Amino acid sequence: MVIGMEPNKIDRRLIVECGSILRNGGVVAFPTETVYGLGANALDANAIKKIFEAKGRPSDNPLIVHIAKKEDVIPLVKNIPEIGRILMEKFWPGPLTLLFEKSDIIPNEVTAGLSTVGIRMPSHPIAGALIEAAQVPVAAPSANTSGRPSPTKGQHVIEDMMGRVDAIISGGECNVGLESTVLDITGDIPMILRPGGVTKEMLEAVLGQVAVDAAIEDPSKSVEKPKSPGMKYTHYAPKADVIVVEGPVEQMVMKIKVLEREYRAKGKRVGIICTEETKDLYGEAMVKSMGSRQVPETIAACIFKVLREFDETDVDIILSEAVEAVEIGQAIMNRLKKAAGYRIIHAEE
Ligand code: TXA
Ligand code: MG
Repeated sequence: MVIGMEPNKIDRRLIVECGSILRNGGVVAFPTETVYGLGANALDANAIKKIFEAKGRPSDNPLIVHIAKKEDVIPLVKNIPEIGRILMEKFWPGPLTLLFEKSDIIPNEVTAGLSTVGIRMPSHPIAGALIEAAQVPVAAPSANTSGRPSPTKGQHVIEDMMGRVDAIISGGECNVGLESTVLDITGDIPMILRPGGVTKEMLEAVLGQVAVDAAIEDPSKSVEKPKSPGMKYTHYAPKADVIVVEGPVEQMVMKIKVLEREYRAKGKRVGIICTEETKDLYGEAMVKSMGSRQVPETIAACIFKVLREFDETDVDIILSEAVEAVEIGQAIMNRLKKAAGYRIIHAEE
């Protein structure tokens, strides 16, 4: 069942119906401000198993639990550290997932056996209304088939999940466009396990010191296994191979043009992911702009859509410009590098 709904015109009757599907053990896909989620009752181990099946997700990758009101966190956790209170006040509802020590009511299936649980309160009106109607906390990974780019439009979810879930609420485009920041607040220093909509700079302004998990930059360099289990899997990968080209913008463009010619000479079909500022510099090549360098939020909002659009073409190789890895750029570069399987070329070399 696909239900079309506008975020500012919520159909109460349908939301109540979807809420009861969730409460009774079904799976419902719904929009959030970050990406679409694939929801199930977080207190029902059987319902959780259906999520893993629908996505084809490895069962050792834990899910985020979504709540409708801040106080709903209380029964789900052992305690709320002081910085947790501060962050919930400042950033909830919004794209920040906090890790807490989990209480016993959270089944091990949700956390993949970990003692911590990730919790977030989304700001999207449909997500909020649905979770409230469900009257239970809602575990929800991104609503893509495991390995594909996360869905930021209803159509993306329909592509991946039609026939695999009980209902899909198609509610327009997600305005952040990248998944939430995952922040571990169970240790001495808060640590970012996944960069996202709430940036390191925004967290530092509130907390002072914030650490970043080494596995984010390059999982192969991490001596420990990644703390956020999801970081170790292939992700966001379109069908074509992706290569990210880094460097000062002018040299980056030059390098991509050289690579494009080389691959074309070898008989490969090449696509280029560029920006509004550079899209006219590639001549005849097949280019897709991911947004404006002046407003990196536009890039965050479009990047998954652009990666998926290339799946509708016949390109073999996608060459992507990099962006500066500061503020939201850190999350954008994390997703691009993962889509590329960490194949990165430096334009200065
Ligand atoms: O924006 C989002 O967070 C979206 C929307 C639907 O809310 N959800 C999402 O879920 O991105 P998912 O399952 O695709 O990604 C969850 C990430 C994974 O990388 C997972 O490993 C990590 O969060 N994670 C969840 N619980 C964790 C835990 N207890 N400890 C460490 N990492 C955890
Ligand atoms: Mg995901």
